[in-house]
Amino acid sequence: MSDISTVLQEHRVFAPPPDFAKKAHIGSLEQYRALCAEAAADGDAFWAARAKEELHWQTPFGQVLDWKPPHARWFLGGTTNLAFNCLDRHLPKRAAQEAIRFEGEPGEVRVLTYQQLFEQVCRLANALKALGVKAGDRVGIYLPMVPEAAIAMLACARIGAVHSVVFGGFSAEALRDRLADAGATVLLTADGGYRKGAVVPLLANARAAKAAGIPTLQHTVVFQRLPQAPALVAGEHDWAALCARASADCPPTWVDSEHPLFILYTSGSTGKPKGVLHTTGGYSVWASLTTRWVFDLHEGDRYFCTADVGWVTGHSYVVYGPLLNGTTTVIYEGAPTTPGPDRLWQLIAAHQVNVFYTAPTAIRAFMRLGDEHPRKHDLSSLRLLGSVGEPINPEAWMWYRDVIGQGRCPVVDTWWQTETGGILISPLPGATPTKPGSATLPLPGIFPEVLDQKGNRVEVGAGKLFVTRPWPSMLRTVWGDDERFQKTYFAERPGLYFTGDGARRDADGYFWVIGRVDDVVNVAGHRLGTAEIESALVSHGKVAEAAVVGRPDALKGTALVCFVTVKASVEPSEALAAELKAHVAKEIGAFARPDDLRFAAALPKTRSGKIMRRLLRDVAAGQDSKQDTTTLEDLSVLAALRQDDE
Ligand code: WTA
Repeated sequence: MSDISTVLQEHRVFAPPPDFAKKAHIGSLEQYRALCAEAAADGDAFWAARAKEELHWQTPFGQVLDWKPPHARWFLGGTTNLAFNCLDRHLPKRAAQEAIRFEGEPGEVRVLTYQQLFEQVCRLANALKALGVKAGDRVGIYLPMVPEAAIAMLACARIGAVHSVVFGGFSAEALRDRLADAGATVLLTADGGYRKGAVVPLLANARAAKAAGIPTLQHTVVFQRLPQAPALVAGEHDWAALCARASADCPPTWVDSEHPLFILYTSGSTGKPKGVLHTTGGYSVWASLTTRWVFDLHEGDRYFCTADVGWVTGHSYVVYGPLLNGTTTVIYEGAPTTPGPDRLWQLIAAHQVNVFYTAPTAIRAFMRLGDEHPRKHDLSSLRLLGSVGEPINPEAWMWYRDVIGQGRCPVVDTWWQTETGGILISPLPGATPTKPGSATLPLPGIFPEVLDQKGNRVEVGAGKLFVTRPWPSMLRTVWGDDERFQKTYFAERPGLYFTGDGARRDADGYFWVIGRVDDVVNVAGHRLGTAEIESALVSHGKVAEAAVVGRPDALKGTALVCFVTVKASVEPSEALAAELKAHVAKEIGAFARPDDLRFAAALPKTRSGKIMRRLLRDVAAGQDSKQDTTTLEDLSVLAALRQDDE
């Protein structure tokens, strides 16, 4: 395939350390293979057994799977409640155990036991009910990384409300679009949060979003995070006051296995983000099982995942997966280098973290900052390291293993997506020999394949990555747009789930995920659609047309390069370039700020009028970014030369 080629040749293999394997939940390749074989032979029996082991079902399910591609329904007729499974069922044994261990960016520590978390969730759940929230209603969550983010999600789940968490780094415009699309009636937010020593103005953004028009939104509940209590206006409620008035007794609402649990917006290849819908039973089973299998959690473990709850990793592996397993989840509010470059290592030492899960972009950044920062801290509590979000280059993988894991901790490179709900391809740390840069093998019950352009299976080599059988935590649809769901994920090969990623399989059957084959880019661990950035640029009055592509970047994985044509009366200038970058940051969020913005006389197009993105990617990759952006590039000559091979 011309656009999926890999040059990476990596021959190092690391076997699981024997003493790690001895204690692991899955401690050998034989055990792993036996589970895979069980799932292959009788999927229904395999999944029924897992579902019964992982969750309390208030009403047992009957049929395991109803698969009418592309629609799956799992554990039919069963009723359960995710908050009950995360909290109530642990109380007899774990009431006094730490559930959440939190450190704010300014440095304060707060610990919530399972009993305390349970009570706070019940109070907020009752407060939501008092505001009129019923099962199936959508609740927006726009909070900093404080325990209240987890409390908010669990309170929704407890009453069958559907949460839609919007990352605190998103702008007022992005927040408005998401809440309006979800039809949220209540928004849970805070006056602010701390990031890089500054205050993130969440309430101001929430107010601006509301003012811009969210027809369904009736109430905003405001958690006070800043020292000064905010002056609330009509329609706004103080979180603490509402919860103080509410009863701490809130029986769980038993919901059907297929009851919607959450909507999480993610980027696709059009300008409009997709509301990925997950439902209760299947999602919960897989979040629970994968957390235990992949992170090999044991009694007394402290587990720390650096993801924000605004992304799917924060849903499955900060909140739900760890709590389903009765683990202590460590939550950190702030930036990884505030106040200093050793912040995360200091947190690991201070909280005696055993399992640590972060993103390659962070690992690369720390690698650059120097080994002296981790070396200052005692990292001997660490037992296992995880990576997620983009391909991890072998050097970063080796550095992570050697410097952070001190050669002692296995590294699990976990491949998955917002749409998959949980990890699908990953080493099992006590069983799978790892190769730096490879997510290795599918978890038991997951059947991925690499297919070539014609749809033939690629045994060894590169192609597009598909998942060929349904799995419990797969997305059910795109909220409000089932046609887009079908087109995006099931049109490429009918009946097979298309991931949007390219991958290579090696002679050992190991998967090496290369990256997106569609117009989605992973920038510093954040998933962005180039079309979203283009829409934001074109919404600026001076822009005529825009095309955005990714350029490989040593630190961010991918950097955003924008090619812009301006309207007739407008002069390109450095000042305008800066203004346009700031405009994107305002429309979407600072994390989406373009790295490079170049003015073009015209965008290169094929004869049929399609923007020649491959050419733009080559142009973007071939030149350094410090050039003067005010010169209009004439891409039409290049375009004419390329017409034949696009
Ligand atoms: C990429 C994040 C290589 C991939 C959980 C996928 C990865 C997209 C890996 C999903 C990995 C995630 N190796 N690539 N271990 N993990 N990706 O929805 O391109 O934010 O399609 O979910 O991230 O990003 P999302």
